Amino acid sequence: MFKDLVIKNRSYRGFDFSRKIEREELIDMIECARLTPCGANKQPLKYFIAYNEKTVEEIQSITKWAAGLPQMELPRKGEEPVAYIVICQDLNIDKSLKQSQTVIGIAAQTILLSATDKGLGGCMIGNFNRIKLKQILSLDENIEPVLLIALGKPIEIVELTDLKQGESTNYFRDDNNKHYVPKRTLNEILINQK
Ligand SMILES: Cc1cc2nc3c(=O)[nH]c(=O)nc-3n(C[C@H](O)[C@H](O)[C@H](O)COP(=O)(O)O)c2cc1C
Repeated sequence: MFKDLVIKNRSYRGFDFSRKIEREELIDMIECARLTPCGANKQPLKYFIAYNEKTVEEIQSITKWAAGLPQMELPRKGEEPVAYIVICQDLNIDKSLKQSQTVIGIAAQTILLSATDKGLGGCMIGNFNRIKLKQILSLDENIEPVLLIALGKPIEIVELTDLKQGESTNYFRDDNNKHYVPKRTLNEILINQK
């Protein structure tokens, strides 16, 4: 069922490092993103795929994970992602980074759903050093990295919970490293109930 895929598609921050991701798998994810809707059909997004260990490690070093769990260093050693898809915007096609946020979101979620469908998973990473990333990947001036998708085979257990009134939306972990993500209930988000 499609809803099961949506539920399974969580933000994972720990991966089985022995399960590498093939170039063809990454290309298929991008093929899915290529087919998504886009305002005025401008299609300003371009993609860089990283799957060799050195490049992935370099990208990993300029990212920040789980700001909501500052006491933890995630991913843990040996549980790092094995691939990255770097979503970039071609400024020659569209200069406005603000307007393209919707398109970036659609592409990113489509990539992650495709990864989940393959038994993989990942995490969107917006917290990264853009200048350093441009240098690492030798990106042209007009190619602006806008969002990273870290990928691998998840080894974490993530559970969605219903957010109760007055509770924080912050995600949290228990002593067994199980990750909990509170989501606002349907009752709270549906404006016109009847
Ligand atoms: C646009 C965007 C940027 C994000 N950037 C980061 C990030 O830099 N680091 C990180 O650890 N998680 C990042 N996340 C993951 C969120 O923390 C995560 O979506 C949220 O905690 C809810 O968990 P869920 O995706 O499992 O529903 C990002 C998510 C989105 C949508």
